[in-house]
Amino acid sequence: MYRIDIMTLFDETVGDMMNESILGRAQERDLLRIEAHQIRDYTLNKQKQVDDYPYGGGRGAVMQADPLYQCWRHITDTFGPGHTIFLSPAGKTFTQEEAKRLLNHYDHLILVCGHYEGIDERFIEECVDEELSIGDFVLTGGELPAMVVADAVARMVPGVLPDPECFQEESHYNGMLEYPQYSRPETWHGRTVPPILRSGNHALVARWRRKQSLLRTWRRRPDLYEKLDLTSKEDQKLLTELREEEPDFQG
Ligand SMILES: C[S@@+](CC[C@H](N)C(=O)[O-])C[C@H]1O[C@@H](n2cnc3c(N)ncnc32)[C@H](O)[C@@H]1O
Repeated sequence: MYRIDIMTLFDETVGDMMNESILGRAQERDLLRIEAHQIRDYTLNKQKQVDDYPYGGGRGAVMQADPLYQCWRHITDTFGPGHTIFLSPAGKTFTQEEAKRLLNHYDHLILVCGHYEGIDERFIEECVDEELSIGDFVLTGGELPAMVVADAVARMVPGVLPDPECFQEESHYNGMLEYPQYSRPETWHGRTVPPILRSGNHALVARWRRKQSLLRTWRRRPDLYEKLDLTSKEDQKLLTELREEEPDFQG
């Protein structure tokens, strides 16, 4: 079973979010377990204070090493060692490739959520294996980033989604953006679903979708497009068609 422990100051909120919907059902089926741990439960002071002033001065507070360490020790003593990740805007940027790596290399993750100005560096040195950022911006706490990482990894655990195709065909799994999606009704506000999607011809639908993915990736994410291997005969054919059909397309 894949296990994710989240060390947080908001265990109830995180626990509730992670127990909803698809991930909740996967946990009921014992495919995975995501558990949130309240760092304050591991303080030795009455006020359950987990932060103090930063050495060197300056504004704000820093989360102290010991409550984090005691919480982390409790998790590793109870559930065994886990690959420990501190969510931090100073970490390596999290991507679908990173999610695949975490899924394939580990079966137990411990995610540490910071707050205030961050956490005491000595805890990082002693217990953290890597730092991950969810993007070049700063949030008030590590809970949203931890849930982002947990969700992205957990939905790829075998059995969580009905079929691996569910995530393999999505944006970023193969370095491309997904094609446009449509549902009923056939016509809405005068806009009609592309006829090929109603043809029932699976091969033609797959071809149309790949072409749309190529076009969308070229238009929206040239950085991803330029890394694609489009040397196959079939892709070369699709590119020729796109050049004829889309006047702006130069991929
Ligand atoms: C206000 S931030 C601290 C920012 C820190 N002083 C800095 O400048 O790098 C508080 C906590 O939110 C989390 N956090 C904020 N932005 C994040 C991001 N982009 N990715 C991952 N975690 C983030 C981290 O756990 C961080 O310790």
